[in-house]
Amino acid sequence: MVGIGFGPSNLSLATALDELGGESGGPAIDAVFLEKQPALGWHRGMLLPGAKMQISFLKDLVTFRNPASPYSFVSYLHAKGRLAAYANRNEFFPSRREFHDYLEWVEARFTKYVTYDSEVVSVQPLRDDRGHVDQLRLHVRETGSADATRVVQARNIVVSTGLVARMPDGIGHGPGVWHSSEYLTRFQTLDAARVRSVAVVGAGQSAAEIARHVYDNLPDADVYAILSPLGYTVADNTPLANQVFDPASVDDFYFSSDRAKDAVWHYHRNTNYSVVDDELIRDLYERQYADELGRSTRLTFLNLSRAQSAETVHGRTRVAVQSLRSGEVDHLDVDLLVCATGYDPMDPAAMLGELAGLCLRDEQGRLRLDRDYRVATSPELRCGVYLQGGSEHTHGLSSSLLSNIAVRSGEIANSLARYCATSAAEADADVAAGRTDLSGVKVV
Ligand code: FDA
Ligand code: NAP
Repeated sequence: MVGIGFGPSNLSLATALDELGGESGGPAIDAVFLEKQPALGWHRGMLLPGAKMQISFLKDLVTFRNPASPYSFVSYLHAKGRLAAYANRNEFFPSRREFHDYLEWVEARFTKYVTYDSEVVSVQPLRDDRGHVDQLRLHVRETGSADATRVVQARNIVVSTGLVARMPDGIGHGPGVWHSSEYLTRFQTLDAARVRSVAVVGAGQSAAEIARHVYDNLPDADVYAILSPLGYTVADNTPLANQVFDPASVDDFYFSSDRAKDAVWHYHRNTNYSVVDDELIRDLYERQYADELGRSTRLTFLNLSRAQSAETVHGRTRVAVQSLRSGEVDHLDVDLLVCATGYDPMDPAAMLGELAGLCLRDEQGRLRLDRDYRVATSPELRCGVYLQGGSEHTHGLSSSLLSNIAVRSGEIANSLARYCATSAAEADADVAAGRTDLSGVKVV
């Protein structure tokens, strides 16, 4: 099995395969992972100081699948000597920085199964003389060195390449125009003294966190928050709504009608999208209030507004902002524009290349997935193609989140093991009957 991408989802899969293999200390299924970054990095561009996780530490890489796992967040705290100190905080939501440290701690146990600086650019099905595809050839670009490529062969792949940053229509990247996903990385090289005004577009968690960070870290800059609603909408984190992320909800969602799926999406989108934690909204409001008290207006909310386009004028960025009240367009000149405008779901089609042609789609053109996250494929393809992510239309809202990865990766590991056992039995039968072995060589 080759895992494409080594973020939390495939890291969780590594733990599941390890636990499936028992005491072997490594996956019993031959598994390697390819990751395009030079090291494990979980949304590094948004590792802002003070930013908290949006889920409980109990929803770590393993606990919902195996509460006794040695790879849990609690095991990590124990290993680091911070279990008592953490417990004293009465806090279910670790900082993103601490969770990143936890991910690195788990990763250190699996480094030998991962090749970094390796971006999979296409996947080619290899046909045998009967037209069957039992092997996939992955074309890999070595991101560390220019133009270096190599191939890797796999029986199964698990694609987990994550969300794709989305810029608004009419606005492109540039030296003064960033997407939130790269914010901190670029902020660290910013000549802060030259930045007097910053606009942040969006009304989600990223936008609010960045607006606060800019306000706190560029004390001489004016900050404009461009948002479509009147004020940021609070994320629904209440217990009944939170059940939408329970492992049991995946079954409910998967086996429900399209109408029910639409209803769940409609009613519970506000658990995750275009919403902000209550605490952060209040924090930003307090900053604006303090401004008013001091008779300054450093933080301005341009609400009921959308960013329409941006152009460079005399070295600054001119943003066209349309009012949803009047329809009128105003222009705002800033030194930096940050588009916290969200992400598109994972869509592996481009990366899968020729293999994508063997993957079946529904009437809306979306990939068809079995309950075990295996892509439904043409019968000649006997390899497994699994997705971690990109399954919101089939498995529900937790698809792109951490909430269910422990259970999901366990389900994928079990499915891989089941198919391995079946294909091993088929291979034995082939050999016994004098047919072919798995590499397509005739057995005499
Ligand atoms: P993730 O995107 O983390 O990893 C994918 C990996 O694949 C990356 O390392 C990437 O480099 C690699 N890759 C991509 N293409 C490749 C290719 N062709 N070849 C090789 N490697 C490739 N959810 C939640 O439940 N709680 C939370 O607190 C948060 N917090 C959060 C903060 C921020 C800033 C964002 C943007 C998102 C969240 N999320 C979240 C949602 C987020 O999707 C989730 O936390 C995980 O990142 C999902 O893990 P994955 O491994 O699926 O994707
Ligand atoms: P998001 O929730 O999808 O929000 C994107 C925002 O951009 C929306 O409010 C959208 O408004 C707005 N937008 C898009 N185009 C616009 C335009 N032209 N003008 C004005 N507004 C525009 O994205 P996100 O905030 O990046 O969050 C994505 C995921 O990351 C979520 O799961 C979130 O929980 C997670 N996250 C977590 C943390 C953390 O753990 N601390 C931090 C950041 C993000 P409309 O909806 O009106 O189009």
